[in-house]
Amino acid sequence: MAMERTFVAIKPDGVQRGLVGEILGRFERKGFKLVGLKQVTPSRDLAGEHYGVHRERPFFAGLVDFITSGPVIAMVWEGDGVIASARKLIGATKPLEAEPGTIRGDLAVNIGRNVIHGSDGPDTAQFEINLWFSAEELNTWTPSDQDWRIES
Ligand code: RTP
Ligand code: MG
Repeated sequence: MAMERTFVAIKPDGVQRGLVGEILGRFERKGFKLVGLKQVTPSRDLAGEHYGVHRERPFFAGLVDFITSGPVIAMVWEGDGVIASARKLIGATKPLEAEPGTIRGDLAVNIGRNVIHGSDGPDTAQFEINLWFSAEELNTWTPSDQDWRIES
């Protein structure tokens, strides 16, 4: 499994509901490495680019209204297979269909308030990381306990 980076964002509902620590902790405890983190209230341009694939969908305007309604916690996580694994930690788009144990399965009930976003593949991850972060905002570092999580 190749070393990857993925973009994850706690949506405004997750921030408003005080779930930031709970969600960050799940990624930390899994063993992934945080290489970028900031709080940002997205502009409509940023939100529109981020959700550009959904531009023609009926829920697009509401989705942009929601995602720009308050601060988001934007993150980049790094690790072997982190793109697919983050999606598993997050759970299904519809929270009522998300498995217990996943973030959406444990913490959400409604598709329009599903707490968290994660890139859905390598190309999307690259696009979204570049959209939300500058190169200087990303950190290359080695956790002091890395040998206890990854075989060298
Ligand atoms: P996300 O991009 O936010 O991580 O969510 P996802 O991949 O699981 O789902 P996606 O199909 O990309 O949809 C993006 C977000 O749009 C909202 N949505 N609403 N009302 C609806 O039918 C509907 N469908 C999608 C959800 O908030 C979803 O997370
Ligand atoms: Mg998506």
